[in-house]
Amino acid sequence: MPIKIAPSILSSDFADLKSELKKLEVAGADLVHIDVMDGNFVDNITIGAPVVSSLRKNSKLFFDVHLMVIHPEKHIERFVQSGADNITVHAEATYHLDALISRIKSFGKKASVALNPATPIYMIENVLEIVDMVLIMTVNPGYGGQKLIPYTLKKIERLANFREKEGLTFEIEVDGGINEDTIVDCVKAGADVIVAGSYVFDSGDVSKAVEKLKSKVRG
Ligand code: DX5
Ligand code: ZN
Repeated sequence: MPIKIAPSILSSDFADLKSELKKLEVAGADLVHIDVMDGNFVDNITIGAPVVSSLRKNSKLFFDVHLMVIHPEKHIERFVQSGADNITVHAEATYHLDALISRIKSFGKKASVALNPATPIYMIENVLEIVDMVLIMTVNPGYGGQKLIPYTLKKIERLANFREKEGLTFEIEVDGGINEDTIVDCVKAGADVIVAGSYVFDSGDVSKAVEKLKSKVRG
């Protein structure tokens, strides 16, 4: 399977999201990564469900919604209705991960789980057979433009090995500090879905940036 590129609109121009989405379509982005932050789970406050609804009316791209919020269980219905295709919740942010994953799936949506850099993989071992994707945070969540934390590469590798050993099918997504160099390390370690925010939107040419990332990991 070719590696998927998921530009994060966190680094895009929020005053012009409609044309930013258009650029991503033209660029051949595989998913749009939407970072939802509540000012509690992380310090920053970003995008809510009403904004996702408006974006939905302007794009047919796959919406990959990353919930960096406490009590994500309170918000699932709203994000389902807003047009999310995948909803990712943090293992650290909820008590009943199994129930939450099942609830997201009951709406016919993809359901994924994210881990902060310091959270070990064994925390989610038991839900690995029911999730569509695992998001390994390669920076501490909250802001774009940070540097990838090197030890997270070992986590990706461990998770990929576990997946193979157990014959599981979830995808591995990485998020934070991805550029044309670090993407190679992440894919070598076993990542399938690559989130990139500042690399794509600060480049001045979204299409070129997406193509560059793809060219680095083309098999
Ligand atoms: C970080 C967010 C990321 C962020 C990545 O908290 O979850 O999705 O946008 O940004 P870059 O690619 O600039 O590290
Ligand atoms: Zn994210």
